Amino acid sequence: MIGISPTDRVFILTGAGISAESGLPTFRGEGGLWRNRRVEEVATPEAWKRDAQLVWEFYSMRRRAASEAKPNPGHTALAALERTLGDRLFLCTQNVDNLHEQAGTRNAVHMHGELFKSRCESCALPPFDDANTYEPSAALPRCECGARIRPDICWFGEVPYDVDQIYRALNECTLFVAIGTSGVVEPAASFASHARSRGRTFYVGPEEPANTSAFTECFLGKAGALLPDLFRYE
Ligand code: APR
Repeated sequence: MIGISPTDRVFILTGAGISAESGLPTFRGEGGLWRNRRVEEVATPEAWKRDAQLVWEFYSMRRRAASEAKPNPGHTALAALERTLGDRLFLCTQNVDNLHEQAGTRNAVHMHGELFKSRCESCALPPFDDANTYEPSAALPRCECGARIRPDICWFGEVPYDVDQIYRALNECTLFVAIGTSGVVEPAASFASHARSRGRTFYVGPEEPANTSAFTECFLGKAGALLPDLFRYE
């Protein structure tokens, strides 16, 4: 169990593992490949330049899968935690699905963007809601300015969203919990060691992550099984 005192400020970092029990595959490990390609081969600015059709095919597939998915008890437990802690909880997700919101979380920060949003690759048109999907031969969407519309996702090599807000919250937190993230993709992989200089750090997932030495303790198991009974209010 993780005890939370009335003065604790809690930072939660979630990764693909929290959505695994909702039927969305993780990126690494079992079932982590898409048509024998690693995600790093389709989620980059270089892939977009080389083959935008393929990139839209990948995100169309993910939009279809995510639109069928429902939150699991792990997402629900974190929504309840937010209701209890209010602004003493900061929930940062690397996930682009909307399962935290579907479960009732109001303030998730999506550092890698959102699957159901798109934006212009060139002009300042703000990101907009978009659930469209494209068949392999379909014409791809264009902005009024003439440039292409792209998924509103932070690709490998791009700067994550809301980093200033995230580091402010990391500097303030006294308790850090990472859930379902393999600990290999930066900068999120370094958040635990950053937080450890100030407080306790925990990991929740079926196997130890690559950055396991940054954690005070690892709770090995599935998020949906462990999270509903993990927190104790002191
Ligand atoms: N509960 C908790 N964790 C789980 C579960 C589960 N039911 N099932 C699997 N996991 C764990 C795996 O053990 C693995 O360590 O989830 C982790 C998923 O790791 P990754 O697939 O590497 O996902 P993540 O760390 O979120 O990836 C980071 O990389 O591909 C990019 O932008 C993408 O946001 C993503 C980033």
